[in-house]
Amino acid sequence: MTQQKGRFITFEGIDGAGKSTHIEAVAARLSAAGHRLVCTREPGGTPLAEHLRELMLHTPMDPLTEALLVFAARRDHISTVIAPALQRGDTVLCDRFTDASFAYQGAGHGLDTALLAWLEAQVQGDLQPDLTLWFDVPPSLAQQRRAAARAADRFEQQDLEFFARVRAGYESRMREAPDRIVRIDGSLTTQEVGQLVAVQIDQALGPQR
Ligand code: TYD
Repeated sequence: MTQQKGRFITFEGIDGAGKSTHIEAVAARLSAAGHRLVCTREPGGTPLAEHLRELMLHTPMDPLTEALLVFAARRDHISTVIAPALQRGDTVLCDRFTDASFAYQGAGHGLDTALLAWLEAQVQGDLQPDLTLWFDVPPSLAQQRRAAARAADRFEQQDLEFFARVRAGYESRMREAPDRIVRIDGSLTTQEVGQLVAVQIDQALGPQR
């Protein structure tokens, strides 16, 4: 990957962890402070990747197929959106990235992590987020929040045990990359979580004007 100037920040957590609310708040605060931002999501972020997202979220398929689709989407997303934005010096905020593949397809569905690591290396080269905020909540709390919020997609219909495995998957990714992945206690109030998030973002980007 070519030299990057901008910062790449990703947001992770099980479904219902509350990350979307906080991404919006971070984006609003950074744009108000004059940052050039690209806000995007995975799977998705390009026309091709959004097609793949629709297929993945609504069509039954095995975990290897899921992983191949999500990494295909990621490849297109990196080469057409993320890498050019970072080269311009923009800050990229991305709702989920490769840690989700390790957590969902790997820990959740039992796909071989060595295979995922191979795909990660092929698709990303040396591109990694500068900071990953992992919104950690117990699966039962996430389930209550999901039930209150919206109709479930294919992933959100999984059971508590599945989400417990996904959560453990995030935890082991954090142990492998403790300098990059920061655990945020997502069971606190929205305001408290927002403050924790702001501290981490400011540390990564420098204080906001
Ligand atoms: P999500 O961020 O939950 O979208 P929304 O909040 O709009 O429903 O992401 C969609 C789902 O995709 C989520 O359940 C996790 C799943 N996913 C994977 O299984 N592997 C991946 O690599 C990624 C990026 C997402």
